[in-house]
This record gives sequence, structure tokens and C-alpha cells, in this order.
Amino acid sequence: MIAYFNGQFLPREEIRISPDDRGFLFADGVYEVIRAYGGKPFKMAEHLQRLARSLREIRIDYPAVPELAAIGEKLIAANQLAAGEYATLYIQITRGAPASRKHPFPDEPVPPTVYVAASPGISQKAKIEKGVKIILAPDIRWTRCDIKSISLLPNVLANQQAKENDAEEAVFVRDGVITEGSHTNFFMIFDGRVLTHPLNGHILPGITRDIIIDLCRQLKVPFQEKLVLGKDLPKAEELFISGTSMEVTPVIQVDDWKVGGGVPGPISRKLQAAYRKMLVEIMGS
Ligand code: PDD
Repeated sequence: MIAYFNGQFLPREEIRISPDDRGFLFADGVYEVIRAYGGKPFKMAEHLQRLARSLREIRIDYPAVPELAAIGEKLIAANQLAAGEYATLYIQITRGAPASRKHPFPDEPVPPTVYVAASPGISQKAKIEKGVKIILAPDIRWTRCDIKSISLLPNVLANQQAKENDAEEAVFVRDGVITEGSHTNFFMIFDGRVLTHPLNGHILPGITRDIIIDLCRQLKVPFQEKLVLGKDLPKAEELFISGTSMEVTPVIQVDDWKVGGGVPGPISRKLQAAYRKMLVEIMGS
């Protein structure tokens, strides 16, 4: 596969990352994951806007963010991914590789390290159709989860725990409150109303989350940003997770209890159908 690294298009296996890179040493960087349908990146502008914000928040100066759109398209073409149903673009930017390991930013400015890769996307159709199991896990992350940081150890540990429990996702609980999944946002339906955690430092402002909120408005499905306690979760009629690759995926089991009789509910189905329809309209896929 051809990837982009610091201004060059190279075979991926030829890319060499310095051991001094602050991404490697400190997880000092940010990233984005974008899905392409039939070779066309979906919501690229929104992802790049979020990337620019993440960079600003951690004070990495990289004005060339808008150029990443063309780089992504070039990678999809160079790797012949346009014919596939899905492709995934991964973008990572770190604070570069200064000569020595010191916590503060480098005294002499070093260029950020920029990596963009394209790969064939994995179909999640079966999970989206049937629904998935999740587990609940303590949210041991920091309080700037609104930044899409590459520092993902709590997410990795929680998702591994999910895997070991035959679950797709681990959904975090902070001070008793449900926040989001290890790589997805989380929606709950109580009394026919769709609820999700409000935007703050405890969750990522998901691009898919935004689309779902828009769809609720269009479909006149009652929606509210609201804190929900983990202990109230068993009273939910329906649950679903959302994300770039998971789209709208119903949750049919939490730990050892079934949600809504163990099958996806009508509001989740309605939002899934609307999401698909929107994809066909925008992407023609
Ligand atoms: N994850 N919350 C977290 C913690 C995430 O990492 C993600 C995305 C989301 C959903 O955001 P979006 O709808 O913009 O994809 C929510 C990406 C896909 C990942 O880390 O692979």
C-alpha cells in the first residue's frame, strides 16, 4: 500500500518513524479516521475541522490541514480502493521528533510528523443488522476526551476487556454517568426519547453523533442531550452505538442482560434506515 509521510507518497513498509518522535515517546499527537464509500470520503470537511481543532487544543501548529483532503483522495486512487464498497483513511499528526526526550515542547521548532494511510474498509453490515453486545467499564480517561488524542490506552484496555467478554464495545461510566464507548458514541432511548451525553470534555464530538441528532430532528424523533446514570440503563427501551465505521449499530445486550428482548428496536431501525438513505443520497452508494 502507498501511504503519505511528511510530504512524500511512499510504499508503507518504507516509512521509518524516528524513535525520538513525540508520538512514540509521549503519545503527543492527534488523529482522525474517515470512511470512504465507493472511493468517496464521507464528511471529510467535518473530520478535518475536528482535526484542526484537536491540533489547536494541543498547540501543534499545522496550517496545511485543508491539503489533507486531496492527499486522502490521492491515496484512495493510488491504492485502487475506489472500486471497493468501503475504504478507511487514517490521519495522524504528532509534535515531531526533536533531538532529546524532554516533556515541554521543543525549544527549537521541529516540523510535525504527518502520516496518512488508506486501507480497505471492513464491512460491519452483519453487526449493524443483528445488533451487538456491550459491556460497561469504568471511565479512567482524562477530562479532555473532546480532543481526538492518540493516547488511547484506557480505550485499548476497555475494548480488550469487551473482546474477552464476547462484546463489541465497552461503554464507559464516569462517576455513575454513562459517557461513550471506547471508539463510539452512545445513545439511549427512554419513553420514546433519544438521549445522549452532552458535549463536554467527557466525550468526543462524534461526526456520526451529529448526523444522528440531525436525523432525529428531520424525523421528528424526540431527542435530548442528557446525563444518564448507569444504574438506570436497564430501564432503557433501546440502545445503540454510533461511529464512522459502526454507523448506527443497535445494542441488544449489556453485560449479562438483554435490551428490548434481545432484538433491535423500532427507533434504532428507523434511524439506521434514515442513515442509509442519507448515505445513498450523498454518496450514491
Ligand atoms: N473512533 N468516541 C470515541 C472515543 C471515538 O474514538 C470515536 C471514533 C467516536 C465516534 O466518532 P465519529 O462518529 O466521528 O467516528 C466516539 C474512531 C473511528 C477510531 O478511533 O477508530
